[in-house]
Amino acid sequence: MSVHDFLEQAWTEHGPKVISGFSRPLYHNLQGLLHGYKYDKHAYGGMIRHTEAGMLTRWASKVPENGVIVEIGCYGGLSTSYLLKGAQKRNAHVYAIDPFNSDFETQSERTDDTVPLDNKPSRALVEQRLQENGFEGRFTLIENFSQEAARDWDTSIGIDFLWIDGNHEQAYQDFKDFEPCLNPGARVAVHDAHPRYGYSAVVEDVKKIFNEGEWTDLEHVKSIIAGRRTVASSK
Ligand SMILES: C[S@@+](CC[C@H](N)C(=O)[O-])C[C@H]1O[C@@H](n2cnc3c(N)ncnc32)[C@H](O)[C@@H]1O
Repeated sequence: MSVHDFLEQAWTEHGPKVISGFSRPLYHNLQGLLHGYKYDKHAYGGMIRHTEAGMLTRWASKVPENGVIVEIGCYGGLSTSYLLKGAQKRNAHVYAIDPFNSDFETQSERTDDTVPLDNKPSRALVEQRLQENGFEGRFTLIENFSQEAARDWDTSIGIDFLWIDGNHEQAYQDFKDFEPCLNPGARVAVHDAHPRYGYSAVVEDVKKIFNEGEWTDLEHVKSIIAGRRTVASSK
């Protein structure tokens, strides 16, 4: 199935979606039931559904041994916790990027107006949560904007799973900034990429992302579009 047909089908309002290799709602629901209720969505101020949470854990558990996961947009650490839960199985490390409650002047200049800047969780609070969840030593919180974090990224660290959920007007830019560091077979998953559950700018950006290069294992989970890069990026 072409990327175009896959996205059209992912976004259709009609018909069953139990199509082999395309969308597997029964499997996604099962993962959601098994793994997607572990952390307190309301306490964390989280923005992912249980099926999405379950699949983040599942995908994170499939990176290679000692793999690397990068999250853009950590907020209160909900999705980070689900990623870390899966990463534990592979002794993988999660780098989570977010300005948290720092530099509100720049945040208000660059905001996409989708997440209120009032009462944003601090880096220290998220660190404490992740430690309480048993993930000490398995994560690095990067208090910065993704553009700057990408500029400062140690390019010797290849990425096995890139989860994009930051500024909803720059999903494509986030992808391009980190693309040179994706390992062969790396998974890329983008949140809010469904016209019904997400944002039109992200919908446009996923079209661009998945129409570039070679992809396999395309998957649609509620508002997430994900796939695996089949060939190495040139570092
Ligand atoms: C939708 S929330 C993330 C929710 C989180 N992934 C979860 O499910 O629990 C988006 C986050 O991205 C942050 N953000 C916005 N622009 C960003 C950027 N350029 N780099 C990194 N994070 C950014 C926002 O401040 C906010 O904390």
